[in-house]
Amino acid sequence: MREPRRRFPCRWALTSFLVCSLSLCVASSLFSCPPSCTCNSSSMEVDCSGQGLTSVPTDIHQDTRILLLLNNRISSLSGGPFSNLTSLHRLDLSNNFLDQLPPQVFGELVNLTEIRLRNNSIRSIERDLLHGLPQLRRLDLSLNFLSMLPSGLFDDLSTLRWLSLRSNRLQSLERMTFEPLSSLENIQLGDNPWECDCNLRDFKHWMEWFSYRGGKIDELQCTLPKELRGRDIRMVPVEMFSYCSQLEDENSSGPADRPASPCTKTSPTHAEPEPSPDCPQRQRYRPASVRRAIGTVIIAGVVCGVVCIMMVVAAAYGCIYASLMAKYHRELKKRQPLMGDAEGEQEEQRQISSVA
Ligand SMILES: *[C@@H]1O[C@H](CO)[C@@H](O)[C@H](O)[C@H]1NC(C)=O
Ligand SMILES: *[C@@H]1O[C@H](CO)[C@@H](O)[C@H](O)[C@H]1NC(C)=O
Ligand SMILES: *[C@@H]1O[C@H](CO)[C@@H](O)[C@H](O)[C@H]1NC(C)=O
Ligand SMILES: *[C@@H]1O[C@H](CO)[C@@H](O)[C@H](O)[C@H]1NC(C)=O
Ligand SMILES: *[C@@H]1O[C@H](CO)[C@@H](O)[C@H](O)[C@H]1NC(C)=O
Repeated sequence: MREPRRRFPCRWALTSFLVCSLSLCVASSLFSCPPSCTCNSSSMEVDCSGQGLTSVPTDIHQDTRILLLLNNRISSLSGGPFSNLTSLHRLDLSNNFLDQLPPQVFGELVNLTEIRLRNNSIRSIERDLLHGLPQLRRLDLSLNFLSMLPSGLFDDLSTLRWLSLRSNRLQSLERMTFEPLSSLENIQLGDNPWECDCNLRDFKHWMEWFSYRGGKIDELQCTLPKELRGRDIRMVPVEMFSYCSQLEDENSSGPADRPASPCTKTSPTHAEPEPSPDCPQRQRYRPASVRRAIGTVIIAGVVCGVVCIMMVVAAAYGCIYASLMAKYHRELKKRQPLMGDAEGEQEEQRQISSVA
């Protein structure tokens, strides 16, 4: 009698265990997880970070909201790895080896609010990369090798609030590129080799307007020209850029042609700013004018000094001569009131030679 009683709870436990594991199986199949990732089915988060992955796993569930791929070795996003992930809100690809992003790689991610691409090797970005992302609020492109941004890149990003371009190779930016960012609150621009010349003047104006509107900017320190090295361009008086209008006036084609001119040095191959052989005048215009101004001041000072000294000497000489002559005439009158002219002249000559 005892044995069946013992067996029954045992069997019951076994069945319940089977049912349990079966239901777990069903549950996990509802939110399948790629082998090298950990998944949270309640927050719809897929975490594949730090797994040494060289490409994005293919079997990521379509309802994933957060996809973490940071600290891997992913160097390419070809093949549309995110094309089905329309529910994705946050995508983190930081600390990988990405150097190029296919133009439509984020194309269908209509619900994306945040993209992190920090610390990759991205050299250039296609103009259309961020189009069709109506919810994007944060974009981190810091620690890459960007040397230019195509105009039109941010045209669809009226929702963007936070943007980082820190630690890239940017020398200049176009004001036009940033004008569509009507919701932007915070921008990071530090640690780039900024070239504070005419090409950056309009962007300086944009920054001033952005600050006035309440936006926050970390810093924009000039690297070139040498006279402005280490200074924040917002602190450089706008008069320093007045020569730019002169250049524009000289150039009859006007400012509309400026972005296409050979002087917008945006070649991605040069890490360090290099003088462009096509337009040396434009680059050296300001330093030359400063040097010329200093030279003028020095020459004017020297001439003034010389003239002053000569005037003092002449005045002193005049005074001494006049007093001597007065004294001589007085004595002449006293001693020899009836003396002839000839002797007086001889006496006078003697007096003058003794003065000299
Ligand atoms: C899964 O996500 C939920 C909601 O964010 C959280 O409360 C829970 O702790 C997460 N589970 C694990 C295992 O991380
Ligand atoms: C996922 O995307 C591919 C094309 O990239 C498409 O053929 C397939 O039907 C999509 N799957 C789902 C479930 O939408
Ligand atoms: C985007 O998110 C909203 C709500 O968050 C949802 O209703 C919509 O279906 C999502 N779009 C897609 C394409 O998944
Ligand atoms: C950038 O990524 C590399 C490898 O991906 C890593 O070794 C390095 O520490 C990262 N640097 C920063 C500043 O995060
Ligand atoms: C005006 O600029 C264009 C390019 O923008 C250039 O080709 C032309 O030589 C310039 N003209 C003068 C007078 O500087």
